[in-house]
Amino acid sequence: MSEPLIGIDVGTSGVKGVAISSAGEVLATAEEGYPLSTPHAGWSEQDPEDWWRATQSVLAQLPTGPVGLSGQMHGLVSLDAHRRVLRPAILWNDQRTGAECEQIESLVGLDRLIEVTGNRALTGFTAPKLLWLRGHEPETWAQIRHILLPKDYVRLRLDGELAIDAADASGTLLFDVANRRWSDEMLAALEIPAEWLPAAYESTEIAGAGDQAAGALGVGIDRPGPLSVVLGTSGVVFGVLPEYAADPRARVHTFCHAAPGTWHAMGVMLSAAGALQWLRTVTGGEYAELLAEAAAVEPGADGLLFQPYLTGERTPHPDPNARAAFVGLTVRHGRGELVRAVLEGVAYGLRDSLELLRELGFATSVGRISGGGGRSDLWTEIVASVLGIPLERTAVDEGAAFGAALLAGVRRGVFADVHEAVAACVRISETVEPNAAWSAAYAEGYTRYGALYPALRSF
Ligand code: XUL
Repeated sequence: MSEPLIGIDVGTSGVKGVAISSAGEVLATAEEGYPLSTPHAGWSEQDPEDWWRATQSVLAQLPTGPVGLSGQMHGLVSLDAHRRVLRPAILWNDQRTGAECEQIESLVGLDRLIEVTGNRALTGFTAPKLLWLRGHEPETWAQIRHILLPKDYVRLRLDGELAIDAADASGTLLFDVANRRWSDEMLAALEIPAEWLPAAYESTEIAGAGDQAAGALGVGIDRPGPLSVVLGTSGVVFGVLPEYAADPRARVHTFCHAAPGTWHAMGVMLSAAGALQWLRTVTGGEYAELLAEAAAVEPGADGLLFQPYLTGERTPHPDPNARAAFVGLTVRHGRGELVRAVLEGVAYGLRDSLELLRELGFATSVGRISGGGGRSDLWTEIVASVLGIPLERTAVDEGAAFGAALLAGVRRGVFADVHEAVAACVRISETVEPNAAWSAAYAEGYTRYGALYPALRSF
């Protein structure tokens, strides 16, 4: 038997590792958590040393083999001349950089920014975090000699290499996404030294990709076709583009994909399964109990609506100050209605991203679901019904770590390319169809949901 392929995902709540065979069978998994710190409202930081400690522990629990890396995107790790970490990493879900985003868009001009980077300036992205450091922590800024994204810091500790893949580099706002290289124009405009950046490669060359690209690969999204629908902490609708194309208004992101020479578009909502996790913390109870109560409630949650912007929002409203809300509460509502409204509100948020992808020309009629929330039959059926498309589940649901293991196999030469890796390792196990009896309630619910953000914006 050939050697195991190892995938590591440096996530927001912990490191997940998987060892697979060259036929895609899971041989072993391991997981190690770490904390997230919020020193101020809207801030989100982690100690890169925690990622490294957790990775070592996870690797120690897995068989040995070539390692592929994936991880939370956009986070800023700043290093000094000795490659020592200067301050805690500022993460993808940190919202402190509203002013820096405005500054970038006015410096570069929104149209030009979208032309070069495929995106607009969003608080989660890396470049605004760098500008924030320059303005607020000049003593740290003065010592920076290298910057890395989270999983690439782990790569540095693993094999001493300063490197990044085009997929993850796309989320920095410093990358020329169409040409798959660092953008001299962006670096000059923002006065960021090019020497600070790691060398950029295709995902297969260094066996690495940002978690959305790796996760999509892991469920077999390697070319235009089915959409990847992720119900993780964040919620994502992701499709591979037939060629490079940016949304002229950048309401969805255009990034390089992990399949060399290809691109994808995606909408990202910041609180998806994270919203259910929050509700559970507030109400108590086990997930199974909460979901059983929600299953007993009719679609539409007896008129209760939930807007899931608990940590601000990205798609379709790039607004760090957006807030969540329950609207339409009555004394008739109990915990089951609250949970059902959260499941439905997140599904409506995903529908917003799907509609934007459709406007860009995606005519896809099927999705592949992954992420913790996708393990719930009820939530998957609600999402399929709200999106109006069947959702396929794959035999293995190990997320981005699985995609990273496939990339390790391509780099090692076990597979000729990502397409061969997907064909050998990804199998559909089940399809969840939209529930026709729910479609009228969800058509009405989605219309009412669409009115919430404009109405609640001034609060
Ligand atoms: C993608 C994004 C999130 C994080 C989650 O743009 O910000 O999905 O990568 O880990």
